[in-house]
Amino acid sequence: MARLGLVILVALLGAAAVAAQAPGSSSYGYGGVPPSPAPQSPPSASPPAPTPSPPAQAPPPRLRFGFYKRSCPNTEYIVRDAVRNATSVDPGLGAGLIRMAFHDCFVQGCDASVLLDPTPANPRPEKLGPPNFPSLRGFDVVDAAKAALEKACPGVVSCADVVQFAARDAAFFLSGSRVSYNLPAGRLDGRVSFDNETLAFLPPPSFNLSQLVGSFNAKGLDVDDLVVLSGSHTIGRSHCSSFTTISTPPSDQDPGLATILRGQCPANPNITNDATVVQDIVTPDKLDNQYYKNVLNHKVLFQSDAALLTSSVTTRKVRENALIRGSWERKFARAMVKMSLIEIKTAANGEIRKNCHVVN
Ligand code: HEM
Ligand SMILES: *[C@@H]1O[C@H](CO)[C@@H](O)[C@H](O)[C@H]1NC(C)=O
Ligand SMILES: *[C@@H]1O[C@H](CO)[C@@H](O)[C@H](O)[C@H]1NC(C)=O
Ligand SMILES: *[C@@H]1O[C@H](CO)[C@@H](O)[C@H](O)[C@H]1NC(C)=O
Ligand SMILES: *[C@@H]1O[C@H](CO)[C@@H](O)[C@H](O)[C@H]1NC(C)=O
Repeated sequence: MARLGLVILVALLGAAAVAAQAPGSSSYGYGGVPPSPAPQSPPSASPPAPTPSPPAQAPPPRLRFGFYKRSCPNTEYIVRDAVRNATSVDPGLGAGLIRMAFHDCFVQGCDASVLLDPTPANPRPEKLGPPNFPSLRGFDVVDAAKAALEKACPGVVSCADVVQFAARDAAFFLSGSRVSYNLPAGRLDGRVSFDNETLAFLPPPSFNLSQLVGSFNAKGLDVDDLVVLSGSHTIGRSHCSSFTTISTPPSDQDPGLATILRGQCPANPNITNDATVVQDIVTPDKLDNQYYKNVLNHKVLFQSDAALLTSSVTTRKVRENALIRGSWERKFARAMVKMSLIEIKTAANGEIRKNCHVVN
């Protein structure tokens, strides 16, 4: 059964992510994942009906590979350059960019709403929501890419696409090019961003498995995506508060790791006294499958990580990712593409921002 589901997923997304390895060439139509909040059924394998009833509102744009090939041919090189520059100095910024793509997509869709600054009219954008502030990083990398893009082709490339390209490129560099995928583009930037929506949609580290699955289902992602994307916790850092005050560490955490963490963290972290620790104590800056080995060894920081061993289905997936060489990297590429399609904005509610920090 799971096998069949995987085959369908591969048919739908694998064709896009894997077959399209030739740089910036092929074209593949995409509608966005339909809007939440209603939990979505998995994508249907049958082709769309030839004469659909007219949509109530404008449909999301069809995202395409090589979207900027004519309008701004150097787009993907420019973003990659900015990400190379940043991650070669600080790989942690690459981790920040991958997390940013997730936090953008789960709140108002992949529309760069996470980049909007506070204004008098909207004093509390997503950026200030607890899971983003103060820990989300990589904003300067997006700014550097956008500045270079505006110089090359003003007003052409959306900030939402920059965020997803930047995450893709961060994955490329941090994995030593093992995670390499083409990404359809043509996303539009949103105009809505509220901090009260971050906690509503971004799962906290205290979540158990059914809560995590529920949160991913609400965004059209399934349990496979949950297991595969959680592998992002093979890079980057966590603030001590994320597993001591917001959430207790997993009850079955390895005692050796617990001792190390107690040595690195204050007893009662607060906003001015909140050290960071690496997520993956074995290969902290490498995007690899070490995360799954850490999960099996109970050497993870969050209950949400440990939760992957609380069902036989997810435990089997964790084992596969830990043991089968190269398998996770391919799945991760597909899942990142799938995540990047959540709730794409339409011409009616989207635009191409000139400055990623403010709506036009
Ligand atoms: C499954 C539910 C998830 C939970 C509960 C969760 C929770 C967290 C937390 C609490 C942190 C530490 C933040 C800090 O204190 O600085 C973190 C870091 C991180 N997360 Fe997740 N996360 C989840 C899924 C994801 C996904 C889907 C991705 C990407 C696709 C991701 C990528 C990252 C990365 C790369 C970091 C390190 C960030 C940095 O070093 O700046 N996480 N996550
Ligand atoms: C990357 O760094 C090089 C060398 O410093 C610089 O010329 C280039 O503009 C940077 N690229 C971006 C997109 O910031
Ligand atoms: C968040 O705040 C905005 C503006 O204050 C409000 O319009 C919206 O309904 C709130 N959303 C939730 C989920 O509370
Ligand atoms: C997960 O947490 C929710 C909310 O606290 C609870 O209702 C549910 O029973 C928990 N599920 C498991 C498997 O522990
Ligand atoms: C944070 O904790 C430190 C050390 O325990 C303490 O000195 C400081 O006053 C605390 N700050 C706040 C804002 O609570």
